[in-house]
Amino acid sequence: MATKTFKLNTGQDIPALGLGEVQTAVAHALKSGYRLIDGAYCYGNEEEVGKGLAEAFASGIKREDVFVVSKVWATYTTRCELGLQKSLEKLGLDYVDLFLVHWPLLMNPEGNDDRFPKLPNGERDIIHSHNHVDTWKQMEKLVATGKTKAIGVSNYSKRYLEELLPHATIIPAVNQIENHPALPQQEIVDLCNEKGIHIMAYSPLGSTGSPMFTAEPVVTIAEKHGVKPAAVLLSYHLARGSTVLAKSVTPARIEENRKLIDLDADDVKLLKAYSDKLTQEGKLQRFVYPPFGVQFGFPDKL
Ligand SMILES: NC(=O)c1ccc[n+]([C@@H]2O[C@H](COP(=O)([O-])OP(=O)(O)OC[C@H]3O[C@@H](n4cnc5c(N)ncnc54)[C@H](OP(=O)(O)O)[C@@H]3O)[C@@H](O)[C@H]2O)c1
Repeated sequence: MATKTFKLNTGQDIPALGLGEVQTAVAHALKSGYRLIDGAYCYGNEEEVGKGLAEAFASGIKREDVFVVSKVWATYTTRCELGLQKSLEKLGLDYVDLFLVHWPLLMNPEGNDDRFPKLPNGERDIIHSHNHVDTWKQMEKLVATGKTKAIGVSNYSKRYLEELLPHATIIPAVNQIENHPALPQQEIVDLCNEKGIHIMAYSPLGSTGSPMFTAEPVVTIAEKHGVKPAAVLLSYHLARGSTVLAKSVTPARIEENRKLIDLDADDVKLLKAYSDKLTQEGKLQRFVYPPFGVQFGFPDKL
């Protein structure tokens, strides 16, 4: 299943399954068959990821067969090329396959920390006058440098995409968003599908200690197919035509998470009914929402 791919609007093939925010897991994951590694400058582990990649390449896996993702962090959104260069140096690579805007905002590039600058009162040091479209204009220039094969966005709501697209010379290849049955973000998925922007789903399991593992429809579908709830939650994205990022540092789970299944129409219907019920009851769950104090246009966070 890990060899399944989708086509990006750049013509590149993107694997349907990827490993997220890896530490020492990267070499094991690549040797187990994963071909997409999702990283970011902000995670502070790109040197370790680079070591894992180097180990995998030394074992015979080819660079061109691995899809490497990195992201420009918020303190670099006025210096995207520098952000990319720093990531490449840490990763030990000449190029990444996809470079994303991690969040559509600017944190003070001259603040008191390289990644998480704070004001004297402890709040995050954010430059609220920054326009995210200006970041995208910088991102567009990166493709010609050959340092990234494609560019995209992350954590873009429908509203932010609608602000961006009229100014875009290059349509984002990807929008990486939190996505699972308890946060379907259907309005974003629909717009992205319409515009040819591929969805990469993060936190598909609902992060550590997730309540979704015991959600009734997830358990029912898992029992029906004789798999664990995690397999249902990961396979949900394949049924939606999205790439899914599974994160695990546990070797057995890294392997288990590759065993995805084809959900049938009844399964998809059941999960949709679950999402619809949570939406109606105002019980959608967003697990990742850093305290930026910025309205990103997500309907569950207005
Ligand atoms: N763009 C963004 O802003 C953004 C934000 C957040 C995340 N991400 C990306 O998305 C990736 C995944 O996000 P996430 O870590 O929040 O969430 P996640 O994949 O939903 O959940 C990871 C958690 O689930 C556990 N797990 C993994 N496989 C399991 C299985 N088969 N059964 C039971 N538990 C299992 C992991 O434990 P163990 O590791 O202990 O096995 C870990 O605690 C990240 O690594 C990152 O690459 C992107």
